[in-house]
Amino acid sequence: MTDPIQHFLTLDDFTPAQLAKLVDDTIASKPAYKANVGAAPLAGQTLALIFEKPSLRTRVSFEVAMTQLGGATTYLDQSTIGLGKREAIKDVARVLGRMCDGIMARTFSHNSLEILAEYSHVPVINGLTDHSHPCQAMADLVTIREHCGELPGKTLVFVGDGNNVARSLAIGCAKLGMNFKLICPAGYELEAELFERLGSDYPAVALSMSNDIADVAGADAIYTDTWISMGQEDEKARRIETFGPYQVNAELMQSAPGAIVLHCLPAYREMEITDEVFEAHAKVIMDEAENRLHFQRTLVAALLADGGIS
Ligand code: CP
Ligand code: NVA
Repeated sequence: MTDPIQHFLTLDDFTPAQLAKLVDDTIASKPAYKANVGAAPLAGQTLALIFEKPSLRTRVSFEVAMTQLGGATTYLDQSTIGLGKREAIKDVARVLGRMCDGIMARTFSHNSLEILAEYSHVPVINGLTDHSHPCQAMADLVTIREHCGELPGKTLVFVGDGNNVARSLAIGCAKLGMNFKLICPAGYELEAELFERLGSDYPAVALSMSNDIADVAGADAIYTDTWISMGQEDEKARRIETFGPYQVNAELMQSAPGAIVLHCLPAYREMEITDEVFEAHAKVIMDEAENRLHFQRTLVAALLADGGIS
């Protein structure tokens, strides 16, 4: 038997069974915590929250999750700690590892997160990097299970940029038996090697990339995200022009009738999604946002109270 995994850096690190258990545990935990009678095993424990970028959902969901589990958080933004500027990342990691019981970090560079994990000796959780957003993808998979049923054989179509969210979804979908399709402008695809590796490891699922929005046909879930991720503001004008034809709007939805619509948020209306489509699917999108809390509470309990993910 292998040792439990201490950090949550990328979905690549976990087996399908481990991810499926996290989805199941998240769904099972919801009634008790929504009724304020859930277990609170983290008394006296503190999760440090490092943010190099802005956040609503990630910050609030980790803070509320720790409150529900009986623990506390300390919020550290970049202007406070100067990760890698005021202080070397490895020293920030060592100090927080001495004082705190876990670290959640939202960084630009994925390597910064890996350095935190290497030096802190306490669990480190990826709260979004330029590379990936695994907590988001897991909350999305929980939401698809709740609204579409068992995941194997379902199809998620991501319309937009082959970005951090798309990358985590591709991995999560493949591992949980879901087909994944990325529809994006030429030049904004995910790495072909990622699809080749996932296709070889999980031959039962269909993984594809296309530049044709007509390929949304057959989707159980249509997903979109901003065309301009945090840190790409300089490319705004070019991206708006390039991504224009890839908007999730009423016409696109006619090709996928019955599909649910997901968005990690924040949403930019009349850019990647029209207000009309957003509002028609707002209930599911807000369920998805709420599931960030439920997934992350399950994750933090597994890492800080149960000794890791096995
Ligand atoms: N989806 C998401 O991570 O939202 P925030 O950027 O507000 O945390
Ligand atoms: N791709 C977006 C996700 C925001 C939650 C970004 O990185 O800004």
